[in-house]
Amino acid sequence: MQASPGSTPNSERDGVFAKALAGQATVHRPIWLMRQAGRYLPEYRQLRARSTSFLEFCFDSVAATEATLQPIRRFGFDAAIVFSDILVVPFALGQSVSFESGEGPRLRAITTGTELAQLAEEVDLERLAPVFETLQRVRGALPSSTSLLGFCGAPWTVASYMVAGRGIPDQAPARLLAYRDPALFATLIDRLVEASIVYLDRQLAAGADAVQIFDSWAGVLPTSEFDRWCLEPIGRIVRGVKRLWQNARVIVFARVAGANLLRLARTCGADVIGLDTNVDQGWAASEIQRFVPVQGNLDPLALLADGASLELAIDHILGAFVGGAHIFNLGHGILPETPIENVERLVKRVRYRE
Ligand code: CP3
Repeated sequence: MQASPGSTPNSERDGVFAKALAGQATVHRPIWLMRQAGRYLPEYRQLRARSTSFLEFCFDSVAATEATLQPIRRFGFDAAIVFSDILVVPFALGQSVSFESGEGPRLRAITTGTELAQLAEEVDLERLAPVFETLQRVRGALPSSTSLLGFCGAPWTVASYMVAGRGIPDQAPARLLAYRDPALFATLIDRLVEASIVYLDRQLAAGADAVQIFDSWAGVLPTSEFDRWCLEPIGRIVRGVKRLWQNARVIVFARVAGANLLRLARTCGADVIGLDTNVDQGWAASEIQRFVPVQGNLDPLALLADGASLELAIDHILGAFVGGAHIFNLGHGILPETPIENVERLVKRVRYRE
């Protein structure tokens, strides 16, 4: 059954994650991990080996449902995140996208008006249909207290891959294009804003309780560029989604945004602000958590490392965010080399202070 516009299934969830999303402090901190489905799990590697290409795997809704559920079965996280990728949106706009094993994504780079004109005006929802089917299947298999997240990449981060044709640390090709031809770059960003609203709308209709917007490369931009290419487009997506779903819950994760994060939190309309590894917990508690729930921000390397430093880091975060709603998470995605025992220890410590 499809949820009727105006109310998301979130209102039906009764777990700690749903409470935190609604801004309530919870006795046990809800926990999930960014990139919780993935290569650190042997059962994921086994499942992944059956598909030749990563995109084919993302669009196989039976396999993607299984990948989504694997970390839930193993660790009982409070939220599942649909197994897919942020680069399915450029694919649904007609750009060629592939993933080279061990090297990351490869796209046919868009750097000119002619190349941009070849992109579709609107996302092809047929191409994305398997993601919606995965959400429906996962929702049917999840306990009622476990929330289900949909997601998309923020326009800036997705555009940086579309322009460079691959992932690079400083996003120089997209930054250069934005300086040299701001009108062209704005056309691309606008296209992604519209595509993201449609995509998130359909994910909520298919059973997502909330959605997260990943701006993984927000940290490379000077403040004025940040406002134009990160803050403003994200705000348009949040408002667009909330016009369609008045009680939609949106988590915004803008990585390494520094002090820009506060302005983003104040203006974009997010229900939860994701904190990356670098964010000072005391600062975030007094400046951001004061008015909006936060999520984060354990260093993925602390989770990977063995020893007492993991317990210390967890306790520090739990202590820092007692003043309001907080969802425990990493400050970026889990690393493929992370030992499973460390994740088990993390969950026990967060839930039961063991
Ligand atoms: O468990 C989950 O969190 C859901 C699945 C998920 C994936 N990618 C699966 C994936 C999510 C939420 C993403 C988001 C994503 N994808 C981001 C934003 C978050 C972040 O990590 O910064 C970005 C920038 C991408 C783009 C992307 N996808 C890159 C750069 C790569 C290659 C690097 C890598 O981690 O391998 C991918 C591939 C990818 N997406 C994998 C997974 C599990 C690994 C490929 C494989 O297993 O074969």
